[in-house]
Amino acid sequence: MPQYVLPDLEYDFGALEPHISGQIMELHHGKHHKAYVEKANETLQKLEEARAQKDFSRLAGLERSLAFNLSGHVLHSVFWKNLMPKGGDAPSGELARAISRDYGSFEAFKAQMSEVAATIMGSGWAALVWEPLAQRLLTCQIYDHQSNLSQSGIPLMVIDAWEHAYYLQYKNVKTEFFKAVWNLWNWNDVSARFESARKLDVLLPETAQPAGATR
Ligand SMILES: [Fe+2]
Repeated sequence: MPQYVLPDLEYDFGALEPHISGQIMELHHGKHHKAYVEKANETLQKLEEARAQKDFSRLAGLERSLAFNLSGHVLHSVFWKNLMPKGGDAPSGELARAISRDYGSFEAFKAQMSEVAATIMGSGWAALVWEPLAQRLLTCQIYDHQSNLSQSGIPLMVIDAWEHAYYLQYKNVKTEFFKAVWNLWNWNDVSARFESARKLDVLLPETAQPAGATR
């Protein structure tokens, strides 16, 4: 059976300091993210056992566990690659043009994305996603790891707004953490995700009218 795997970070735990402490990174990657990977694999194993035993009495709970843990794995994997030491600044090229088209300006996008993170009630994520029906960028507020997502959206850039992402360093002033991550964005990674996501055709014609499209 295929297994999900915890990816190595492409930088040292302390490489994102002073914006994110090495202690947070070590716990966040080595404990929290690792647990999502292990639980996703465990849940798939339990689903296999349920099929073998023809006993689907716990199916709803297992599906919920799979969505939670697999989404946690995907979002953390994107987040690590979205960040880099001495990152930040602003994107260029096609991604910059798409942000200007869909948000008016980079500054307006930054303000909205930060507010999406800051206003999550409880645990969750802020995400910039590519929405392939209307072929546009959207921000979304994801509760836990899996709720409130548009089904067609592909995450390009995410901010972990769970307390475990900032509390040891920023305590209750989470908005300071959401400011600090803007010093770490790896825009080459976000642009590469954007270019890859734009190639997806979800085969749902007539469901939206993309900007600039003619009918
Ligand atoms: Fe996290």
